[in-house]
Amino acid sequence: MNTLLPACALRNRRLHLGVCGSAAAYKAVDVMRMLQRSGVLVGVCLTEAAQRFIRPLTFAGLDAAPVYTRFFAEDEEGVFAHLEPGSCAHAMLIAPASATTVSRLACGSADTLLAAQALAFDGPLLLAPAMNPRMWAHPATRRNVDILLERGVRCIRPAAGRTACGDVGEGKLAPVEEIVFAAAAALLPQDFAGRHILLTLGPTREQWDDVRFWSNFSTGRMGAALACAAALRGATVSAVAGPGVPELPAAVRRIDVVSAADMLAAALDVWPGADAGIFAAAVADFAPVPFGGGKFKKGGADSLRIDFSSNPDILSELVKHARPEQKIFGFAAESANLEANARSKLRAKNMHLTAANLLGRPDSGFAGDKNTLFVVDCRGREEHWPAMSKADAAWRLLDWLSTL
Ligand code: C5P
Repeated sequence: MNTLLPACALRNRRLHLGVCGSAAAYKAVDVMRMLQRSGVLVGVCLTEAAQRFIRPLTFAGLDAAPVYTRFFAEDEEGVFAHLEPGSCAHAMLIAPASATTVSRLACGSADTLLAAQALAFDGPLLLAPAMNPRMWAHPATRRNVDILLERGVRCIRPAAGRTACGDVGEGKLAPVEEIVFAAAAALLPQDFAGRHILLTLGPTREQWDDVRFWSNFSTGRMGAALACAAALRGATVSAVAGPGVPELPAAVRRIDVVSAADMLAAALDVWPGADAGIFAAAVADFAPVPFGGGKFKKGGADSLRIDFSSNPDILSELVKHARPEQKIFGFAAESANLEANARSKLRAKNMHLTAANLLGRPDSGFAGDKNTLFVVDCRGREEHWPAMSKADAAWRLLDWLSTL
């Protein structure tokens, strides 16, 4: 998840993290660390019950600042500790949120420092509840959560499974990655809200016989960073993913495919409802004509003969069906003549935006967490970008796409 978060946009954003008493309290540290690695500044407030499970020093020692533990502590911003997050933090997250804190928030009680801080916080407030499944299912908790949802509080639903107490049901703290994603989204602009992005990513795999296929080295990492960036900015993302693409945020609608033909069919299905198409897939340009006889048996070099047929060009097929307002953004992976090839591909394929990289260089292209891009658009704007994380490149590419 961390490699998907855009540090360029999250750096120096401030999150206030509330931690309640729960066996899952230690996971708040993981949430904090993941966000800090992307440059988020995190302040923390632990309830008294939370301090029975995890020490304030754990957070302070890991660069949380400030760390609040009680009302009116002289070393914790004095008498205004309940107001400080409301004036400094860009978003507030309570993870894990206990039944009692959820209840306090629903009725507007301010009898603990954390509840007072939440009451005095008028930015985005997120809760990640964790409790026994019977407590979560209780009508009182349901009602409290509904009240908070109606007020615009966001709730990251607990997961189902075996809770620490041994009971099975819904009540486990949601996966850390899901909480981190929701917190990051709350810290970022929602300028893609209401937009639907179709994304193709990863390689395709073209089967030859029962056990062999033709493919390429694409890992789908650049596409995964784009899926994450668009979803973090509020877009609805339909990601048509080839084999081996890493896990995508739960907010992304993932459609797994294998071959170029499957990818085209899935993309055509999504395209009419999309505002933009981002084509980051390394589609196999050719497919072996299937052997057709089960598993090919070795019979000496002369017996092996593979014929190839051309695969459909997915981007070009979708351009044929595009409405004028649908934006087309594609990639170009080149082994030489980067600028000239990118410009001619932009024109030949009728794209609005093309991002091109050289293959076989450090910090460029397949695999790796970084990319070095030459970017060109249909208005003639061109830029060379230095090597940067794929997450940051994705963020900047979306900035650019939204201007076209
Ligand atoms: O392979 P090429 O350099 O032409 O790829 C340019 C763009 O076209 C990329 O965005 C790629 O995802 C897309 N493409 C496609 N279907 C193909 C080949 C390329 O959608 N068969």
